[in-house]
Amino acid sequence: MKNRTTLIIAILFLFSCSSADEHNTPMGSVENIIPQPKSVIASHQKIGFISEGTLIVSGSDLLNESWIVAESWFKNAGLKIEVADKKRPHLKFTISEDIVGEEAYNLNVDKGKIQITASTSEGLFRGWTTLRLMIPASAETGGCAKGFFLPIVSIEDSPEFEHRGLLLDCCRHFMEPEFVKKMIDNLSIHKMNVLHWHLTEDQGWRIEIDSYPRLTEVGAWRTEIDGSTHGGYYTKEEIQEIVEYAAERHVEVIPEIEVPGHSQAALASYPWLGCTGEKFQVANKWGVFKDIYCPGNDSTLRFLETVFDEVCELFPSDRIHIGGDEAPKVRWASCEKCQKRIKDQGLENENELQTWIIERVGNYLESKGKTIIGWDEILEGGLPEGATVQSWRGMAGAIEGVHLGTDVIASPTSHCYLDYPLSSTDLEEIYSFNPMPEEASHGPGRVIGGECNMWSERAPQHLVESKVFPRAIGLAEVLWTGTGVTLSNGAYDNFLSRLDSHLNRLAILGVDYGLESVPVSLSLSMEDGEKAKLYANISPSGSYIRGTASFVSLDGEKSEPQSFDSPIEITGTGEIVATINYRGRILDRTENFPVSYHAGVFKEITLDYEPSQYYTGGGNYALVDGKIGSMDFRDGVWQAKQGSDISFIVDLEGQTDIEKISLNFYLYQDAWIFGPASIKYLVSENGRDFTQAAFVENHEVLENDPKQTIINFNSGLLDGISGRYVKVEVENAGPCPDWHAASSEPTWLFVDELVIQELK
Ligand code: ACM
Ligand code: ZN
Repeated sequence: MKNRTTLIIAILFLFSCSSADEHNTPMGSVENIIPQPKSVIASHQKIGFISEGTLIVSGSDLLNESWIVAESWFKNAGLKIEVADKKRPHLKFTISEDIVGEEAYNLNVDKGKIQITASTSEGLFRGWTTLRLMIPASAETGGCAKGFFLPIVSIEDSPEFEHRGLLLDCCRHFMEPEFVKKMIDNLSIHKMNVLHWHLTEDQGWRIEIDSYPRLTEVGAWRTEIDGSTHGGYYTKEEIQEIVEYAAERHVEVIPEIEVPGHSQAALASYPWLGCTGEKFQVANKWGVFKDIYCPGNDSTLRFLETVFDEVCELFPSDRIHIGGDEAPKVRWASCEKCQKRIKDQGLENENELQTWIIERVGNYLESKGKTIIGWDEILEGGLPEGATVQSWRGMAGAIEGVHLGTDVIASPTSHCYLDYPLSSTDLEEIYSFNPMPEEASHGPGRVIGGECNMWSERAPQHLVESKVFPRAIGLAEVLWTGTGVTLSNGAYDNFLSRLDSHLNRLAILGVDYGLESVPVSLSLSMEDGEKAKLYANISPSGSYIRGTASFVSLDGEKSEPQSFDSPIEITGTGEIVATINYRGRILDRTENFPVSYHAGVFKEITLDYEPSQYYTGGGNYALVDGKIGSMDFRDGVWQAKQGSDISFIVDLEGQTDIEKISLNFYLYQDAWIFGPASIKYLVSENGRDFTQAAFVENHEVLENDPKQTIINFNSGLLDGISGRYVKVEVENAGPCPDWHAASSEPTWLFVDELVIQELK
């Protein structure tokens, strides 16, 4: 059947290549479009669209709701809209079945017209988005009221993957509806088409459910450790508005309602939902919690069905994410109702009980015309029928899902976690992501796309945009343009060169984008001579990073700021403070590197242990390299050892009068990192016979302390202590104590830096 509709939206543009205004008229470009279109044939000619501000439009209704978005954009660009006059030069949208693919489009700019052709209104919208990115960025705020030039060009484009998403965790930190809408705008401009909206968690329930009002009266609010309250939720009206707003921009909103884990806020609202019936607080710590929904309890099953009834009414998406990740089974193992369910249903164990509950929810949702998505744990008791798998613990879940014949979304921690710091996942890492490695490329299932995951434990709303952008833009290009381009030689440099001008547009749009990589790194060098000196050298990660740095001593004395190409002398203990100037923007952020010049720097050190391969601290000199471990225990400066005492000896290469010895420890009991039980400082003249200079006991080592902090254990002022060798013996805290979630597991020691202060 041939059903070809031609839609003409005529826009009055007076063509002029030699207008008197030419020099003042902004010039658009096809060079910097992100994601890069599949095929671009550009000529060197340009066309002027000098309109004196009037657009003539017809048939805009055929573009569906998205015309509202395009229309308001043209108005913001300073262009008035009037009724069509087809004889004039125009912008023409054509629906044609000749274009294959829902989101595919052709865009031609030629003498007399701009033409966008697609088989759906969605395709037309993607084509319009490309046109928007070709028009000078100044149009975003009315800077093209007198028109603009465009290059003559022919573009054919379609996405490589159909699912291109961002997970937004509005539970760990609540985000205002207006903020969510702005995020949708920013997804849409990058041709991302899914907002995976994480709405229920241990730390907050964010979606209004009429049948269970306590979910938002109680479950949406938590008392923080400092006594303050954090929370919020979305009313049904707000959700409807957000879903409609997204639909106008061809972004599908997929809600995530976690089953059976990450449900403590629900249990705090209705304790009978859990196995023990115990009362809970909405969680105010991060982590994985043992108390989860009880699938043995019929009332819990009815609760879930009612919640999903109301969820389905709000979200038109035919997919609902039901979580399924990180659900400890300890409560189920000792719950009579859960054990009865296992027996009655002929299940083998608690993992199969998880599959049973997911399948039950899945069947219920199927009866309402929905399919489910679940994190890769849903594979553990056998793939629930019809479920899409979202692979996060690496790509193993993706490969297994493809082999089992189902759809897969790829979002592994290795490349897609935007809550991870730039030191572990920078833009280049994300850009290098292959969502469909060889093992996942042969059916019967298939990888339908990927997502970046913006978990918000450490990202209140005001930090979120700077974590999402520009990193998510890298994934947008991977998923739209495809790895045939993004993994080719030189692709990343090419992407960066386009990103520069693209970021100008995002700045105009008020996007508070952050850095694309750790901006500067620090190395220290010693200059030997009559009096050795220690220098800090700052290396920027790219030519767009500039700035100055100083040494600031512990008592606040600051050295003269120097540009990044000159070394900075470190004269004691303090920090190197670098102020970053990024692509012409002076950021108020600084990078701080704690450092110390002391008697032990770069002296020979001998360890009696093998540090963890993940936390070596950066090599042989880790504990005496002048760099002091920061508040980020993954900064590469900390050295760690799990489950044993540690000791080490430093050779100061000559008899030294020692005033003080100190060592920092990281404390983060939730991550099994404890302080030392005790620490002994010893000194020797010959490296064999040591005498104790100081002994510090830590009687509180096993007390529950929720802080994530650095603690210093030092010798105090040493009187008359002299020696060539310093030995340090650190006693491990022993296994995690009974109160700890990982009770009896071995604890970690994180140490750095051993500062040996010489008596002056
Ligand atoms: C996850 O990051 N727990 C899916
Ligand atoms: Zn139970």
